[in-house]
Amino acid sequence: HDLGRANTLGLPCVAERFVAPRDGRQLSEALALADREGWPLTLLGGGSNLILPERLPGLVVQPAMADWWLEEQGGEVLVHAEAGVVWHELVMALAHRGLWGVENLALIPGHCGAAPIQNIGAYGVELGEVLEAVHLVRLDDGREAVMTAADCAFGYRDSVFKGALDGRVAITRLVLRLSPTARPRLGYGDLATRVGSEPTPLAVAEAVCAIRREKLPDPLTLANAGSFFKNPLVDAGTARRLLAGHPGLPHFPQPDGRVKLAAGWLIDRCGLKGWCRGHFGVHRHQALVLVHFGGGCAAELLDFADAVAGHVSERFGVALEREPRLAGKGGTLA
Ligand code: EPU
Repeated sequence: HDLGRANTLGLPCVAERFVAPRDGRQLSEALALADREGWPLTLLGGGSNLILPERLPGLVVQPAMADWWLEEQGGEVLVHAEAGVVWHELVMALAHRGLWGVENLALIPGHCGAAPIQNIGAYGVELGEVLEAVHLVRLDDGREAVMTAADCAFGYRDSVFKGALDGRVAITRLVLRLSPTARPRLGYGDLATRVGSEPTPLAVAEAVCAIRREKLPDPLTLANAGSFFKNPLVDAGTARRLLAGHPGLPHFPQPDGRVKLAAGWLIDRCGLKGWCRGHFGVHRHQALVLVHFGGGCAAELLDFADAVAGHVSERFGVALEREPRLAGKGGTLA
């Protein structure tokens, strides 16, 4: 099964077997079959934060259950969204209903099922802040379970699904807690100016879409996976040293005393914006995004990314960590 179109980085990938279950029963059957046959299992969401190897052995499962519904609860609204729901479509539907909570997360690509894994976040809001629960199936015994947000151990682009539960569960449904009461969060960048004086969830979502469209390439026209690196968290001393030499460095102090730096700025200051090598490049409008012009593969991309990170490390002494995840760790890339 060709997955070349199923990943926004446009990397060539052939999966040995592929299934897109449309309900819980089909999902359980697929998981049980992989277990019985001893096939390595890869779970695929929207393919927007993933680096695929050229061959994926075993079974790739892309959950395609895509219903969502609302439940009122004490003046607030619980949103149930199955794993295969397209995140941005859900955000816009909720914004049109006047519900507050996820409007800052408009236009983030991918499916709901993958959203908690990296705790998607943008414009001052992270999924973990509105997430009530995650429904999942445990891969070891096929049983269903429900986790609370606290169980998910959310951090910046991080959760238990990248740690202790990595490769051990299939997320089937999210429950989000939204509110009809106004609670705009417009503190990031120039969002407040762009939204104007009468914020509604729809106005905020549309402003976020406009900002993202200016900076981030549309994967349909230029393959990419959004930010390729995480913004690095450094200790206060390192931040002070860097800021002394580079007063313009965008920096965001964290509650734990560390300081988050803008990786895009660091790459940009190395003169790498628009730099191309082979089939890959640093995006012309946002240095944190690596783009694929077509014809390349995962190994070449990882090489290119190492070169970018190498420049930043040499110039600023800061290590950059990759954001998209490598699929098929047991496969050709490991
Ligand atoms: N900057 C530059 N040059 C660049 C890129 C950025 O100087 O080429 C500077 C900007 O001027 C700004 C600062 O760096 O002062 C931060 O830039 P921006 O607001 O564009 O955000 P970011 O830190 O590059 C992060 C997220 C994005 C998210 C935005 C908005 C990460 C890894 N990325 O990017 O998320 O949309 O903030 O909240 O945290 C993603 O994860 O795929 C993603 C797009």
